[in-house]
Amino acid sequence: MIQNDLLLRTIRKEKVERPPIWLMRQAGRILPEYRAIRSSLSGFVELVTTPHLAAEVTIQPVDRLGVDAAIIFSDILVIPECMGLPYELIEKKGPYFPRTISSAADISALEQGEVAAEKLDYVFKAIEITKKSLNDRVPLIGFSGAPWTLLCYMIEGQGSKTFSKAKGFLYKETKLAHQLLQKLTDTIIAYLKLKIKAGVDVVQVFDSWAGMLDKQLYRTFCIPYLKQIVDAIQDVPVIAFSKGAFFSLEDITELDADVIGLDWTIDPSEFRSRFGKECVVQGNLDPCALYGSKHNIEAKAENLIKSFEAHHIFNLGHGVYPDTPLDNVKHLVNFVKQYKYQ
Ligand code: CP3
Repeated sequence: MIQNDLLLRTIRKEKVERPPIWLMRQAGRILPEYRAIRSSLSGFVELVTTPHLAAEVTIQPVDRLGVDAAIIFSDILVIPECMGLPYELIEKKGPYFPRTISSAADISALEQGEVAAEKLDYVFKAIEITKKSLNDRVPLIGFSGAPWTLLCYMIEGQGSKTFSKAKGFLYKETKLAHQLLQKLTDTIIAYLKLKIKAGVDVVQVFDSWAGMLDKQLYRTFCIPYLKQIVDAIQDVPVIAFSKGAFFSLEDITELDADVIGLDWTIDPSEFRSRFGKECVVQGNLDPCALYGSKHNIEAKAENLIKSFEAHHIFNLGHGVYPDTPLDNVKHLVNFVKQYKYQ
């Protein structure tokens, strides 16, 4: 039995006393104890591939911030890695893939499904260690990148302001794009199932670059694959977070996901009036609000909670930025934890 199961009760739409809170990227550079471990290593990849250290940094925000859930420390880029495209993380630049995908031969050389996912043994070990050390204090969230977001990195080889190469691939090499998206989908499903077997209580699918597309492209290249993923995951709740996809909310809310993640561009009251009060939502405070005064943080947080009314998991609209004052992050968490629904 999980002691603090507020997140799970909220997802089941039970009546709860307040919204649960956790923060995307809560395990990371905002915490001095994360920076200490990180600086003792050769790099990010070493941290991700060392299970006892990944477990340690997963639990740090539970201890330090008192959040209502842990999220396993890892990265979405482990999927391309297990399919045959290793990544690096370059300091101050971000992800980098020495090899990328540009042809049919590149795609057919990729491994897929369970055979590929099973290689990520270090993630499953990290989950097992985390579950033991967490000792059921809070639920543990597992995650994956969505097919489109992972395709972006596999085609571009790095981050981009436009992802025009990846988008161009959808237009120019439509058939190949679908082949790659299907291979990714099969691998993501196998990976999430292995994460669930290792012990995660909830999973979140991050479609971080959804906002690069439009309604038609999202409907063609994303929704059918997200649907396969959501339909395949039956044993734990699924959170679908498509950042920037305001244009596809109708399609996303029709997926059978248990929770819809919303970025800060979605107005809570407008969302409720369009999609009803029964949908469980996660979000969506602007991460930059945490640079402001404590008074303002409280006012924004209270407004958000009141506008969503219920069935709400408090989170930011995207990951917390590394230079956010830790004191403000703690203030937000404490504020939400003392809140009581009327
Ligand atoms: O606390 C958590 O949320 C769990 C850990 C987590 C990380 N990455 C750790 C990380 C999660 C859930 C991710 C997902 C991820 N990774 C996404 C989807 C979420 C999002 O932000 O949209 C994406 C797009 C990536 C790809 C990625 N990994 C980028 C763009 C970067 C560089 C960004 C940066 O801030 O430097 C990474 C590296 C990364 N992943 C860091 C962390 C804590 C920074 C690593 C470091 O330098 O120590």
